[in-house]
Amino acid sequence: MTGELSPIDKAKFAAAKRAVDFVEDGMRVGLGTGSTAAWMVRCLGEMVREDGIRIKGVPTSVRTAELARQVGIEVISLDEAKWLDLTIDGADEFDADLNLIKGGGGALLQEKIVATASDQMIVIADTAKEVGTLGAFPLPVEVIPFGWQTSRALIEEALINLDVMGRDVTLRMNGDAAFVTDEGNHILDLHLKRIGNPRQLSLVINQIPGVVENGLFIDICDVVVVGHGDGRVEVR
Ligand code: 5RP
Repeated sequence: MTGELSPIDKAKFAAAKRAVDFVEDGMRVGLGTGSTAAWMVRCLGEMVREDGIRIKGVPTSVRTAELARQVGIEVISLDEAKWLDLTIDGADEFDADLNLIKGGGGALLQEKIVATASDQMIVIADTAKEVGTLGAFPLPVEVIPFGWQTSRALIEEALINLDVMGRDVTLRMNGDAAFVTDEGNHILDLHLKRIGNPRQLSLVINQIPGVVENGLFIDICDVVVVGHGDGRVEVR
């Protein structure tokens, strides 16, 4: 499955491989999105095909659903599952309190719903994702297309009174067109550089009309499995 991997992929794979040890027969598992989560889905597929483990997977994006089916995982919706034993997902940043920035892959909305509907959320990450203070990675905010420029202006206005360092807000693009999420929305990336109070920021942003959800995951993640380029892993 792995062939010759770059150190970064080795780290992602090592974290994914360790995280699937948490998965037990019969579990309903939330399946994250992104390149690290894709390794985890492949590892789970191998467990299904070769070890005969029976799990039901709830994907957090169309592309994860496709990969899960390809590797032999039974895919169900969150409404069918109702509640999950475990979600395993990647992250763009995590801090010492295991708070996260997610949504670099544009799937933050389903990711947050699925993680919140789980007994446990495990994040898999390479060492580059660990930060002292969140915010170097632009914070993704999902907004509905109607009036997105107004939502952006309201976000910019709100940022003036918040403990952040940068205030640029950009519309995520896909080539010449605005990026469209699986839910048909757009993403605004907030270039904040440093987020002094993630909990306050999250609450303020989510109150702005047109905002559907933001990529701050506060008190949602329980465990971070960190992979190193030499294949070592740490569980935090
Ligand atoms: C997608 C996400 C991803 O989990 C996050 O962007 C990390 O991706 P990768 O594992 O490819 O670095 O939040 O919306």
